[in-house]
Amino acid sequence: MTRLQLEEDIVNSTNTALNTPKKLIFSDYLLCIEGANGAACRKMYQDHREKFERAWGSSVKHQAWEWGYIDHMEQIMWLATDIYPIFIRHCWTQPFSLSDAYLTLFLHDLEKPWKYAGTDIEKDELQKYRTVKDFMMAKIAEYWIELTPEHLNAIKYVHGEWDDYDPKKNVMNPLAAFIHSCDTMSARGGYNFPPPWMRFSDRW
Ligand SMILES: [Fe+2]
Repeated sequence: MTRLQLEEDIVNSTNTALNTPKKLIFSDYLLCIEGANGAACRKMYQDHREKFERAWGSSVKHQAWEWGYIDHMEQIMWLATDIYPIFIRHCWTQPFSLSDAYLTLFLHDLEKPWKYAGTDIEKDELQKYRTVKDFMMAKIAEYWIELTPEHLNAIKYVHGEWDDYDPKKNVMNPLAAFIHSCDTMSARGGYNFPPPWMRFSDRW
């Protein structure tokens, strides 16, 4: 797909998120993940809904309150929706869809519902994995979510290139750069969003 075709798709899009000026709620963004992967993400959310909704966004640094995980998810998906047309227009890069962005954003902090709101047994289960990424990949396999090499690169480098930084080549791909930007804007820019008086407005 060329960049021009992608821009035309954006203009003519039937994507709910792109055509809705208002912020959507988490479950609406999940409806915008296409195909079997979208159905799998929605199933995971339904199966573990109570955990997702009680989890904090982090222990201290951003959205550190009950429901903060959902607040973080909604903020990054809202940011992605607003920024996506600008990114495509200015970066002239390998195309990815907004659905790819929502999918990888949904997956990028997947351990947090278990870590912050799991039962003791679930927290113990989490501890059995060598890394958070191992836990994430096990959940991805459990729900038969099929990821492309681009998706895998994005969830691997969503928090930066770290020790894989290479002075001679790009390690992070464009999708990773995009979701990293959305995550950083939320976790370090809008870390206290929404303010307390807005936090309970749209939740049920
Ligand atoms: Fe995050």
